[in-house]
Parts: sequence; C-alpha cells; structure tokens
Amino acid sequence: MTSLRQPAVNFSGTDAIFRPKLPAPSRRLSVLPPLPVRRRDSAVVSLSKPLFVSKVESFGDHEKRREREVIVCKAFEADKSSPVEPSESARKVKIGLYFATWWALNVVFNIYNKKVLNAYPFPWLTSTLSLAAGSLIMLVSWALRIAETPKTDLDFWKALFPVAVAHTIGHVAATVSMSKVAVSFTHIIKSAEPAFSVLVSRFILGETFPMPVYLSLLPIIGGCGLAALTELNFNMIGFMGAMISNLAFVFRNIFSKRGMKGKDVSGMNYYACLSMLSLVLLTPFAFAVEGPQMWALGWEKAVSTIGPQLFWWMAAQSVFYHLYNQVSYMSLDEISPLTFSIGNTMKRISVIVSSIIIFRTPVQPVNALGAAIAVLGTFLYSQAKQ
Ligand code: 3PG
Repeated sequence: MTSLRQPAVNFSGTDAIFRPKLPAPSRRLSVLPPLPVRRRDSAVVSLSKPLFVSKVESFGDHEKRREREVIVCKAFEADKSSPVEPSESARKVKIGLYFATWWALNVVFNIYNKKVLNAYPFPWLTSTLSLAAGSLIMLVSWALRIAETPKTDLDFWKALFPVAVAHTIGHVAATVSMSKVAVSFTHIIKSAEPAFSVLVSRFILGETFPMPVYLSLLPIIGGCGLAALTELNFNMIGFMGAMISNLAFVFRNIFSKRGMKGKDVSGMNYYACLSMLSLVLLTPFAFAVEGPQMWALGWEKAVSTIGPQLFWWMAAQSVFYHLYNQVSYMSLDEISPLTFSIGNTMKRISVIVSSIIIFRTPVQPVNALGAAIAVLGTFLYSQAKQ
C-alpha cells in the first residue's frame, strides 16, 4: 500500500509510532494490522500535520506474517515536503512521458533532417549546426539559471574526450548515411547496434554472453541483411555510414559508462558537455570536408527552389536533434540501460514507419519483412540480456 493519507490530527510522533494500543484515529487506518511495540527512548518526529503512511512491509513466513507486519510510517509535515518516494504508478507515468517525448522529438528531427538534406546535401554542416544549437541552448540555460551549471574538472573533460570522439563520428556518419539513402533504411541498419555491441564486447573487451544473446543476433543480422539486399535505393555510402555510426555509438556507450563512474553530473548536463566537446572536434573537419564556398553555392541553389523556409527547416532539425538527445539522456537517468535499449528500438519503429509514410518511400514486402525481423531481433536481444 502506498501513500495512504490520514486526516490532520494533533498528536506526537511518539504516539503515532511507538505506543501500542493507540486507538485507530481514522476509519481507513483501522483496516491495518496493529502496530508492533518498539521501545525507543525519545520521539524522532513531532507531528501536527497530516501523516502519510508510505507503505506496509511484511516479511517472515506466512503463519507469522500477521504478527510481524510492520507499518513503516514516513511521517512528515505536508508543507515541508520531506522525502516521500513517488509511487510506482507516478514513476511509470513519468517514464512513459519521457519515452513518448523522446520518440516524438526524434521523429520530428528525422523528418526535418531529411528535408534539409534532400534540398541542401551538406551533412557535415548540418551535423555541426545541430551540435552548435544544442551547445547554445545549454549555455543560455546555464546563464539564465534555467538549468543548473554542472561542476566539472579537467578529469571530467578528459574522460569525456573519447566519448565525444565516438559521438562525433557516429553523428556525422548517420547524417552522411541519411543524405544518401531513405531515413527508414538508415534506421533499419541502425537497429543492428546491439549486434555491434555484442561483437565489440566479445572480441575487443573479451566479455562473454549467454547463448540466447548470441542467438538473438541471428535475426538482427539476417533481417538487416535482407533489408539491405532488397532496398530499392541502396547506396554503399549510405549503408556504410549507418554501419560506422553503429560501431561508433557502441564505443561511445562503453566510454560513457567508464567516464561517468563516480561523477555527479546529470544526464542533461552530461549531454550538454558532450555536445560542446563534439562541436569543437567536428567544426574543423566540416570546414575541411565541405567548407564555406560549397555551403554558399549550395545555399543559393537550395533557396531558389525551396525558398527561405529552408532556414527554418535547418533550425528545426538542429533544435530537435538536441532536444531528443537531451530527453534520451534524461530518461537514462531514470531507467536501466536495458529499458533504455528497448525504448530505443521502439523509437526506431516509430521513425521507420513515420518516415515511410511522410516521404512515401517505396517498400517491397520482402524489404519490410527484413526490417521487421531485424527489429524483432533487437527485442529478443533485450530479453536475452535480462
Ligand atoms: C545522429 O544523427 O546522431 C543519429 O541520427 C542518431 O541516431 P540515433 O540517436 O537514433 O541512434
């Protein structure tokens, strides 16, 4: 039972918790078993405000249970909001909201990103702009105290460096991929990330896994292979971009885990710092690979066909990129990596389906079957890892 509220009455904490044979002060509490006697020298709480019974814990064998049942009273003054753990259903609602927001933001990002890349195919610039937008949003949030500025030291940034290298490579590679192939195809290939994770952990880190984990890789690899072979607009750069992104993100996750050990930085701020460092790393490469001349020529051409709204599409893809990543890192604060990876798979389904509808991507049945097998494989993988 959680958070059973009792009407406000004036009595001391000693009365409430430690005295036996206290007459039941409310009808609702009278259904609870009698309070056990606990000898204590002094009261630890004094109440004149509503009392919240946070849970009833029982332990011991069945016959003795009634005698041993203990009411755990986490009493507090309602207006001082002392620690009351949120109920399980409140936590579920919160996580559900995180997931829904994460997927929705991700779908919007993918749509605007593809619209921009179709009209203005400069993936190095768009990748850089999305990191720049995120960095700017967070710097402003810290300056205005909307978000708490993280306390970081040199060790933090050193540990973040390999994470940022992997994040930068994974981000550019995915964007290059999406500039060459359909969004759905990039995400089908990206659903193979667990397979990369297992292979890297097995052959580079020497970790071993139970047999069901290895078996779950078969549908992932088989499904992705089938989808790739039957993709109508297959492009090798697009395919390799998604594969490189998978590999890079596996390393990003491994380095993140190591870098975050013992650090007290929230998920939101961790992602903000990651964006800033990635921006610093990516900017010179974006200038070297594409550069202002190509950007300016491409911009003129794109605006002449699309119009000035191209600017807003770019702004949208940049802002939504930051927002979806920020929410995903915030949910990682609340959930296990396993739940996170299931959420990520669900996210890919929503992106694949919505992008096929919006961009009217031609899909052959056998191609859809490959995608479905691959996604099913990632579910089996999540279960096998449990
Ligand atoms: C990127 O641009 O970084 C990728 O689109 C990220 O994809 P993911 O967050 O869905 O793995």
